[in-house]
Amino acid sequence: MKKTVLVAGGAGFIGSHTTVELIEAGYDVVIVDNLSNSEMSAVEGVEKIVGRKVPFEKVDCCDQVALRKVFEKYPIDAVIHFAAFKAVGESVSKPLEYLRNNLDSLMVVIDLMREKGVRNLVFSSSCTVYGQSDKLPVTEATPRKEAESPYGYTKQVSEDVIEQCVKAYEGFAGIALRYFNPVGAHPTALIGELPKGVPANLIPFVTQTAAGIRAELSVFGDDYDTPDGSAIRDYIDVIDLAKAHVAAVARMVDDKQKSRYEIFNVGTGRGVSVLEIVKEFEKATGVKLPYKIVPRRAGDIEKIWAETTLSNEELNWKAERTLGETLANAWRWQQTLSK
Ligand code: NAD
Ligand code: WQD
Repeated sequence: MKKTVLVAGGAGFIGSHTTVELIEAGYDVVIVDNLSNSEMSAVEGVEKIVGRKVPFEKVDCCDQVALRKVFEKYPIDAVIHFAAFKAVGESVSKPLEYLRNNLDSLMVVIDLMREKGVRNLVFSSSCTVYGQSDKLPVTEATPRKEAESPYGYTKQVSEDVIEQCVKAYEGFAGIALRYFNPVGAHPTALIGELPKGVPANLIPFVTQTAAGIRAELSVFGDDYDTPDGSAIRDYIDVIDLAKAHVAAVARMVDDKQKSRYEIFNVGTGRGVSVLEIVKEFEKATGVKLPYKIVPRRAGDIEKIWAETTLSNEELNWKAERTLGETLANAWRWQQTLSK
């Protein structure tokens, strides 16, 4: 029988791509989103790609009464919890909003799962929990560093909440996926990232600059201890990332053992510098990208990339898309946005 996955935050960037991959892998999906950082156009884009309607419930995951009705309406087998605020900088000035939304929503979801006997939870964690690690690449066993932002703190606490619930509630299982830097868009250009205002993240800034919306890209720092002096990250294609969720759900719904908490890095295993991104973008799209070097951005780490052996072996998952392909998809998506 088909399994049903509740995708909380499914109208967002990663949730919409994951919904597509789940449906293409044979799951039924119910999207729950309060549209606080997304639009219905993302759900419509998903529906165009998969060629059918996808149940959508406009509900705030912090609203237990409203979310209970969703759990009662659909035969849910697993939950993927994307619903959270994610702007690191904003979290510093709005800690309570971040703590409330990100932690309340998770606890309400787990409480309802417990009430309704839903046993499988996949959670969106982040490489931000590692901070600047002394040893690279980071493995899942690399110690977490003290969080540098309220946002990062919510990811650490969320991981701990899930671990404690798995210990306490018989049969309950949780997988935390620690994403590195998710980028790109669906090759159909029907869904992608919808940054609000001036993008804080690199790739949306790059594509907006290429589109002429921004005059030039500011490269934050060229004096890091890296081969070209600019900072290094592990950029993971959003479709590859979406497929990691399908693998995590499959592992859980097929697993009779249960009561297990697991963490997996989701990255490519390859570190890429900001200046390499500029070059690779120009090569993949043929568009010139004006940029200037400016001082380092406060709070940025120098370099990080993932050790992915565990997710490769245990989830049977591997990042497959090339950086060129990913950047070309991000550019195609930007062009549809600019129309
Ligand atoms: P996004 O903002 O595009 O998606 C999040 C979705 O959740 C949005 O559609 C938003 O409307 C919804 N939402 C937020 N609070 C909600 C609530 N209380 N009830 C219902 N819906 C709610 O962000 P994204 O980039 O798709 O990120 C998804 C998850 O992955 C987040 O938890 C984020 O912290 C995590 N993550 C993102 C990145 C990244 O760089 N994009 C990296 C690591 C981890
Ligand atoms: C990437 C690189 C910048 C913009 C953030 C969160 C992290 C995770 C992923 C959620 C850095 C440089 C950027 C620009 C630049 N999110 N840059 N010019 O900071 O690695 O990670 O998103 O969990 O928690 O902190 O991503 O895209 O902002 O930056 O030079 O205009 O690009 O300095 O080296 P970051 P990013």
